[in-house]
Amino acid sequence: MIDEAPLPDGFVLHELDRVDSTNEEIRRLAEAGASSGLVVLAAQQTRGRGRYGRDWASPPGNLYASLLLRLDGPLATSAQLSFVAGLALAEALEPHAPPDAPVQLKWPNDILIRRAKTAGVLLESTGQINGGRAPWIIVGTGVNIVSSPDNTPYPATSLVAEGFAAVTPRALLGDYLVALVRWLDCWRTGGFAEVRRAWCARSFGLGDQIRLRLDREELSGRFVDVTESGALLLELDTGGRREIAAGDVFYPDR
Ligand code: BTN
Repeated sequence: MIDEAPLPDGFVLHELDRVDSTNEEIRRLAEAGASSGLVVLAAQQTRGRGRYGRDWASPPGNLYASLLLRLDGPLATSAQLSFVAGLALAEALEPHAPPDAPVQLKWPNDILIRRAKTAGVLLESTGQINGGRAPWIIVGTGVNIVSSPDNTPYPATSLVAEGFAAVTPRALLGDYLVALVRWLDCWRTGGFAEVRRAWCARSFGLGDQIRLRLDREELSGRFVDVTESGALLLELDTGGRREIAAGDVFYPDR
C-alpha cells in the first residue's frame, strides 16, 4: 500500500471499491445526517452520472469522488461554487501536465486538455430548500486519468493519453481538496470577483465565437463574459446579448 498524504483538516474520507454513484452514495449519507467535509471516493461506479442526467463512464483507474458541503450562503450564490471547484481541479492537475498541454476550463466547469474534455464537476443539492438555502450541496468530480469514453458528443481524453505524469486517484483527490480549501477561503472572504478572474484567465473560448446548445434551442455568438451569478454572457449573432445559466458550449473548428 502506497502511503498517501492525509487529506486537509476538516475532510473525512470514505473509500469504496464499487458504488452506483459517489454522488448518490453521499446523498444517502447526507440525508442520514453526515457532516460537511465528508468525501466519498470510489474505484469504480456502476451508474456514474454527468450533467443533464447523462451517463458518466466509470471503469477502474479514473477518479470518482464526491464531497458533501453544508454552506451557509443562499442557493443562488452556490452556483458560484461550481467555478470554485473547476478552478481547484485545474490547479490540482496543472503540476502533472506536460509543458505543451495547459489545463483549461470550459464553461461552466469542464476541464479541457488540448480542447478535449478530461474532467467534469457535477453539483447537486436537495429538493428541500428552506428560504433559498440548501441544507447540503454535493460536489461530484470525475477525472479521466487512464481512460476516456469514445461515444461522447464532444472530444474526450485522459491524462495518460495526453502525456501527463502518473498520478493515482487518491493523490489527485488530496491535491484537489487542498486547492479547494484555498479557493473556498478566497471566495468566502473576497466574494466571487477573484474566483471569476482566475477562472476567466484559464478559460478556453472566452472572447471567441461559440455555439451554445440549450434545452430547446441552439444559439451562436461571441462568449463575452461570465457574470456575477456565473452565467455565460453571449453576444448573439442575431444581435443583442443573453445571459445563459445552463447549456452546452461547442467551439467551431479553428
Ligand atoms: C459532467 O457531466 O461533466 C459532470 C461529470 C461528473 C462525474 C462525477 S464522477 C463522481 C461523481 N459521481 C457521479 O455519479 N458523477 C460525479
